[in-house]
Amino acid sequence: MSFSRHRELFPTLASGIHLLSHSLGPVPRAARDSMLAYCDAWEHHTSEDAWATSWWELSRRVGDRFARILGGEAGSVQIEPNASIALATVASCFDFHSGRRTKVVTTALDFPSMEYIWDAQRQMGARVEVVKSHDGITVPLEKILDAIDEETCLVALAHTSYRSSYRIDARPIIERAHERGALVLLDVYQSAGVVPLHAADWEVDFLIGGTIKWLCGGPSCGYLYVRPELQKDLRPRLTGWVAHDAPFEFAAAPMRYARSVRRFAQGTPSIPALYSAIPGLDIIESVGIENVAAESERRTQFMIDFARERGWTVNTPPELERRGGSVMIGVENAKAVSEQLAERRVFVDWRPGAGLRISPHFFNTDEEVQEALQILADLIA
Ligand SMILES: Cc1ncc(COP(=O)(O)O)c(C=O)c1O
Repeated sequence: MSFSRHRELFPTLASGIHLLSHSLGPVPRAARDSMLAYCDAWEHHTSEDAWATSWWELSRRVGDRFARILGGEAGSVQIEPNASIALATVASCFDFHSGRRTKVVTTALDFPSMEYIWDAQRQMGARVEVVKSHDGITVPLEKILDAIDEETCLVALAHTSYRSSYRIDARPIIERAHERGALVLLDVYQSAGVVPLHAADWEVDFLIGGTIKWLCGGPSCGYLYVRPELQKDLRPRLTGWVAHDAPFEFAAAPMRYARSVRRFAQGTPSIPALYSAIPGLDIIESVGIENVAAESERRTQFMIDFARERGWTVNTPPELERRGGSVMIGVENAKAVSEQLAERRVFVDWRPGAGLRISPHFFNTDEEVQEALQILADLIA
């Protein structure tokens, strides 16, 4: 091990074996101080000076920190209230009623918000093709590539699936979409903070996600990456005064969009959420995504091997480059098993059809991972 697990920085780890980073990461101890710093600043601001002296710039600064984690350049990320709003903001950039390009390609393994938001776009003229999964674990790359045609305006997929941890192969999808004149959005909520991401290198058009999982941040802090060269061409209909080029002019319509990624904002940013996200970003950056990813690969492999040796059903792809940081184990009555694990202070969760979702992160020790699996083995024997 070339890095510290920083366990002392996470008070929650004292209460049991935390393997829940796909859902809710443990709160860093420093989050309390960060939230108090927010309260101090709030108490001291007597007027709108809060905006001028700190809050306005905070969104931009935290956005730039996300950009680093996503592999993008400064100025490519706008903070959003959550990943669903980030997605809806992108959806609102498309005009599905005019022209030939009305098709959106998604997959059956995406998070439900994705499905709901695209389904709602049908009323706006969108044609949505959901590429099926034959096994509930993967979606064949060929099927995704075949679905992208000259009528496709957007390919919008989970980079890592919340239900199987299946990680798509981003490059060929982006290449095919760009060849056909379509844009690509990846939902990286289950990747950012555990899998290295290369937004600029991939030339992906949009990334969405949030902080409460692998990034150890608080709730209500989503983000939207938009490829810098694309930003000025887009005019989201889901908008607000913060997205205006000169918000404090309070000018009448029509909207004059900001000439920066702020054009994808809506209203007042969630300032407490930004404070709650910073300590997790500090820790992840100091450990280093490459180190986090290497640990994740080693431990998910251990878990898969452990499960296979016992003949368990593994609902996660075995290939290293096709999986994210979680391992899903199919057990009978996953809900009851996850409750029994919680009684033994092993914290995992479950999803219908997916089984138990179990996620080692950099702060977990090898002993914890082994102990958790042994407790599971004893329970389901
Ligand atoms: C892959 C993925 N996308 C989106 C979401 C939802 O994010 P939000 O609640 O910020 O809209 C989740 C939450 O579990 C998720 O796992």
